[in-house]
Amino acid sequence: MKCIVCEQPNQFKMVEVPLPSVQEGEALVRIRRVGVCGTDLHAYKGNQPFFSYPRILGHELAGIIDLIGQNDFGLQKGDQVSIIPYLECGKCVACRKGKMNCCVNLKVLGVHIDGGMQEYISIHPSHLVKTNGLSLDQSAMLEPLSIGAHAVRRAGSIKGEVILVIGAGPIGLGVMAFAKQRGAIVVAMDVNEERLKFCHRWAKVDYTLNALDDPIKNLSDITNGDLPTVVFDATGNVESMCNSFKYVAHGGKLIYVGLVKADITFSDPYFHSKELTLMGSRNATREDFDYVMSAVKTGKLDIESYISHRSSFDEMIERFKEWIDPESKMIKAIVEL
Ligand SMILES: NC(=O)c1ccc[n+]([C@@H]2O[C@H](COP(=O)([O-])OP(=O)(O)OC[C@H]3O[C@@H](n4cnc5c(N)ncnc54)[C@H](O)[C@@H]3O)[C@@H](O)[C@H]2O)c1
Ligand SMILES: [Zn+2]
Ligand SMILES: [Zn+2]
Repeated sequence: MKCIVCEQPNQFKMVEVPLPSVQEGEALVRIRRVGVCGTDLHAYKGNQPFFSYPRILGHELAGIIDLIGQNDFGLQKGDQVSIIPYLECGKCVACRKGKMNCCVNLKVLGVHIDGGMQEYISIHPSHLVKTNGLSLDQSAMLEPLSIGAHAVRRAGSIKGEVILVIGAGPIGLGVMAFAKQRGAIVVAMDVNEERLKFCHRWAKVDYTLNALDDPIKNLSDITNGDLPTVVFDATGNVESMCNSFKYVAHGGKLIYVGLVKADITFSDPYFHSKELTLMGSRNATREDFDYVMSAVKTGKLDIESYISHRSSFDEMIERFKEWIDPESKMIKAIVEL
């Protein structure tokens, strides 16, 4: 079978390899779609810390079961599936509490171990979500969107609340869409006007703000001086993550969906006087995948326009060089096999 290996930064190679050996209890899935996200671009460019090469990228995956034995998941050969790419240990403190998304020993396909940019992958059926009835594109997009669904779930009840989402990339867009679905009044903030326009169209947000244009005044105006009760930062920008403390209402929550390899500092008197709750949000769980799937099924999410770029597997190496250029204005690229 064919497989695309990221051999070292800035270098992909298409290679011919044997089919994966299928361990007892595992399923063989024929990969049909691979979504490409920021993590893959960073890995390719070589600025993903702790990334080791060679590595097969790809963690936003959809495919068809080619081989499967008796299983407890109601899965059979020919089923279309989305893959939950977070492989947990099942034993650590987080796993014991059902929080496999932040397992102590977590291995993510395409990040810590080889992922899905190959024609077949062998995986345990517990990491497959049956998506018969969805398109292959929709199935592959469950993963990036479930990140947003998970973050919104972390926020608890937000019905009728004014909430702020900073960062209008593919991750922030998911947060915005699910916050709207949960009945919040959503303010989107970014520095990129084009992306802000897309938030209006795609996630139906109520307000958009440019982060360079006095956010505190604008947020105060929208909330009659209260400020948003929940702020999600999905920028991956350290400055934004530090500033975001200032945008939260007294008694509110700040949720970091984006991540940076840096220390975040904040004023404790500020944090204390507001009695803020600061939360991380990592990956997603099967519950989030199921939630996104039902939103897609009921037509609440437009996957077609979320996907901005597309390539065949054979042309992917060439296309990738274009996608890393910000001028390509990529939101989400998808590779077809
Ligand atoms: N929680 C998770 O498990 C998880 C999973 C995947 C990705 N992520 C992280 O989520 C973050 C966002 O991912 P993405 O793919 O959407 O990234 P992206 O780079 O496409 O989008 C980030 C957006 O933030 C905007 N931005 C940057 N600096 C800003 C600032 N100072 N003020 C306002 N807006 C600013 C950018 O213009 C951009 O539109 C990244 O940090 C990524 O690593 C988290
Ligand atoms: Zn991703
Ligand atoms: Zn674990």
